[in-house]
Amino acid sequence: MTVPFVPPPRRPRSRLTPDQLPSWSDRLAALKHVPPLLKMVYETHRGYTVAIVGLRVVRAVVPLGLLWIGKLIIEGVEASYRGAQPVDWPHLALLVGIELMIAVGGEGLARASSLLESLLGDLFSNRVSVRLMEHAARLDVAQFEDAETYDHLERARRQTVGRIGLLAQLLGTVQDLITLISFTAALILYVPWLLLLLAIAVIPAFLGETHFAALGYSLLFQWTPERRMLDYLRFTAASDQSAKEVKLFGLSSYLIGRYRRLADEFYEANKRLSIKRATVSTLLALMGSLGYYSAYGVIIYLTVIGHRSPAGPFTIGVLTFLAGSFRQSRDLIQRVLLTLSSVYEESLYLRDLFTFLGLEPRVVSRPGARPVPRPLRRGFEFEGVSFKYPGSDVWAVRDLSFSLAPDESLALVGENGAGKTTLVKLLARLYDPDEGRILLDGVDLREYDLASLHSNIGVIFQDFMRYAFLFRENIGVGQTEYMSEEDRIREAARRSLADTVARRLDKGFDQQLGRRFDGGVDLSGGEWQKVALARAYLREAQVLILDEPTAALDARAEYEVFLRFTELTKGRIAVLISHRFSTVRMADRILVLTGGRLVEHGTHEELVGRRGLYAELFNLQAAGYR
Ligand SMILES: Nc1ncnc2c1ncn2[C@@H]1O[C@H](COP(=O)(O)OP(=O)(O)OP(=O)(O)O)[C@@H](O)[C@H]1O
Ligand SMILES: [Mg+2]
Repeated sequence: MTVPFVPPPRRPRSRLTPDQLPSWSDRLAALKHVPPLLKMVYETHRGYTVAIVGLRVVRAVVPLGLLWIGKLIIEGVEASYRGAQPVDWPHLALLVGIELMIAVGGEGLARASSLLESLLGDLFSNRVSVRLMEHAARLDVAQFEDAETYDHLERARRQTVGRIGLLAQLLGTVQDLITLISFTAALILYVPWLLLLLAIAVIPAFLGETHFAALGYSLLFQWTPERRMLDYLRFTAASDQSAKEVKLFGLSSYLIGRYRRLADEFYEANKRLSIKRATVSTLLALMGSLGYYSAYGVIIYLTVIGHRSPAGPFTIGVLTFLAGSFRQSRDLIQRVLLTLSSVYEESLYLRDLFTFLGLEPRVVSRPGARPVPRPLRRGFEFEGVSFKYPGSDVWAVRDLSFSLAPDESLALVGENGAGKTTLVKLLARLYDPDEGRILLDGVDLREYDLASLHSNIGVIFQDFMRYAFLFRENIGVGQTEYMSEEDRIREAARRSLADTVARRLDKGFDQQLGRRFDGGVDLSGGEWQKVALARAYLREAQVLILDEPTAALDARAEYEVFLRFTELTKGRIAVLISHRFSTVRMADRILVLTGGRLVEHGTHEELVGRRGLYAELFNLQAAGYR
């Protein structure tokens, strides 16, 4: 059963106006990313890069060589034909042989360089992918929650990995330019002023091409959010995660309709631009042809009247040589210009790559930052800590002050949105507070080395990851150093009760999880939680934090898990977030949050006796069980 699709009101999308176009200085600025790209390419594989450049340079002079030998052959044939000289067979055979060698050699060089270029291209895109992943890992969590950064990443990822094409284009251009120079030198010897004619014919084409390249980029740029939406719709309409809801809610026609509308809008905008571009390019190319044929006419005329240039008389050989040089020069110039405009177009995309690589995280370790002491002596102290999420103007937590001793277990209680998860993120320094400070053993968290801090904290968040890896790997991610240490992983699984889950699986600890890959099985929500918990136990962290780790556990499992948790975290800091009071009451101390503020704290008994918010929430839940 499907629901008829009712289109949402159409959002007006203005056409591109000239003032949205980058200025000429912007355009030149875009080219500044070409050298760093070349550097990256060179660093990817020095040997390949040098070999490719060498091959290209040699290939560059092949065309002139071919034409020149052709001229010599025609002149030899012509002289014998007119009977001016006896036929010199060995000489002609030698010339044809040389031409053959040049042609075959040139072909071989072309194959060799395209092989090397494709190998280098593969290496380069691997390298860029790794750089992107490495850089993404350095950024703050906040930067991922920022749509603009995400757009940069997206553009960098989708547009740049294939940008090695740019290298081939640049090299091709250099090669073409060398060939062009060789032709030009030959032409100058015969009819220098004709060069001017060619130049005049091709410059408008160049300006036209770069103009449209800029328009094309700015169109794609403006549509980044929509194209992300397209990806999202495509994913949502057909993914393992959404299949159940999409089917039962009859969402597919809605999703497809939304996709189609957006895709059509983009198609139309792009079509207008493509048609304009094709029309203008054709006109400009016509001018180029006119230039060429005028030049051709002039050469024919000069040959017919028996003109003598400083380089010698205009023979039939010279006529074919010059006509060939001209035709090839024009093609070359046209190709160089086209490539330059697409080099320019590509360099606009490079800007996204380098903008993304240039983003700097704000949550970083100071130089010479200290490691977290082991064991902890004083624990955490929050002093008037307030925090707003970037781009939000409400406080997520406000003026929090409390302390947390090194062997204490603490429970955080509060209604949805009270700030519990936020508090944990601050404690793990995924964000820095906007006001106040957090001390660990008397020292501001910002003074500690981030890696050392993170390695001392084991957190399982509400929205923990379900990796499409093997069962044991899903535990191993808790501490990748122990990934292949079977005993440790089994021990962690035993503590979190995940071993009972593994026992049920065909392949036990070697079972592929998730449906994404062949032979993978999905687990129930509670089973996944046990696996995630094992990650926390695998870590030798001094601070263990569980954000609603038991929401999906059944009553017996929860009881066992918590009995173990309190035992296993003895002598460590344990922070626990739960909406179940049966769990919460096991903690040494309980903090009650509301609207980001700390309103009550104490043990379960104290708080119940106080008859405040905690007592109210507790009684509400207890009433449900009576
Ligand atoms: N990434 C974010 N960006 C902006 N605001 C956020 C973000 N995460 C949470 N908030 C807001 O901050 C406030 C506190 O959220 P938090 O996740 O800390 O609540 P919580 O107490 O963990 O709630 P729950 O019990 O539902 O998990 C909420 O108002 C929430 O809307
Ligand atoms: Mg939460």
